[in-house]
Amino acid sequence: MNTSFHCPPVAELSTGEQRWQAPSNIALVKYWGKYGMQLPKNPSLSFTLQTSLTTTTVAYQPAKKKAKGVSFEFLFEGLARPEFHPKLDAFFDRILPYQPFLEDLSLSISSTNSFPHSSGIASSAAAYAALSAALVAIEESLFPGKEHLYWDQKRSFLARLGSGSAARSLQGPMMLWGEHAAFDGSSNDYAIPFEDGLNPIFQDYQDCILLVDKGQKKVSSTLGHGLMEGHPYAVARFEQAHRHTQELANALQSGDLEAFIRITESEALTLHAMMQTSQPYFILMRPNTLHIIEALWAYRQDTQIPLCFTLDAGANVHLLYPKQYADKILSFVKDQLLTYCQAGEYLLDSVGQGAKKL
Ligand code: PMV
Repeated sequence: MNTSFHCPPVAELSTGEQRWQAPSNIALVKYWGKYGMQLPKNPSLSFTLQTSLTTTTVAYQPAKKKAKGVSFEFLFEGLARPEFHPKLDAFFDRILPYQPFLEDLSLSISSTNSFPHSSGIASSAAAYAALSAALVAIEESLFPGKEHLYWDQKRSFLARLGSGSAARSLQGPMMLWGEHAAFDGSSNDYAIPFEDGLNPIFQDYQDCILLVDKGQKKVSSTLGHGLMEGHPYAVARFEQAHRHTQELANALQSGDLEAFIRITESEALTLHAMMQTSQPYFILMRPNTLHIIEALWAYRQDTQIPLCFTLDAGANVHLLYPKQYADKILSFVKDQLLTYCQAGEYLLDSVGQGAKKL
């Protein structure tokens, strides 16, 4: 257990409210495989997004009577959603050692998403980041006086306990999560901003998310990460992720888009290759995912525009490109790619700065 993030019990509690917004993020170097309490088997590097957001309000008051665990009510898009309670209960159990005062409060949590429900977008990163940011702000109001860095790290630390990738949604524009010998301050416990010498071309990079399959995830994250246990290629994969993190960091500094494309696409395909070669095995791409990739490669060859793709653990495709090509890419998407999207739907997003208080 990490002891640096413990906080003492509190003598007197007040009533208040925190409202925070946090974005989703998209990994370039993928986190796939975990151990212990949501600790990553390899480092990952991500773009923080800007418009795919969760907004969460946490109102709190002293609990009327002492309960075991955290007492809360939860509304999503204005409606009570008891089906989310088991996951929230598990999250609160995990964070309680680090925020024991929560047991003496009664919480009223209300969340909304900026992106359509069931869009196939992994919403847990934004959701746990927004909730953790609000909870840490409550702690900060009870125990002021610590430095900025502590709170930044604690937000990410708590979010990680909800969903690993959520650790990377608190700050931006790029986040590094997981220990890597070449990066001072890198940690398995929380993500840190990767900003040292980030080439300006990446400060406003664009992400057009093509919604190929808007259904529920076919493989849950927990099951997916578990597939790396005893995976025949696990050791080589974790080594590759270390190498890719270093190489991608170099490309992000130099602005070498050729290297950026090579590593980003290789990471996306490797993630899917890991799933296709595990026991049990899964194919999470759909035929339209491949149609999009082929059309994209042909377009890149013809136009020399540095457009590339990445994938999550699903069928949707994220198109990544510098802002200066935004109009051209949008025309390409509309002319050639929407036919492969479910209900012709896509989302436009770009690199962002992380969580913020409203
Ligand atoms: O945060 P989790 O446990 O849902 O895992 C996310 C894993 C990937 O999205 C596939 C990769 C990543 O690094 O975000």
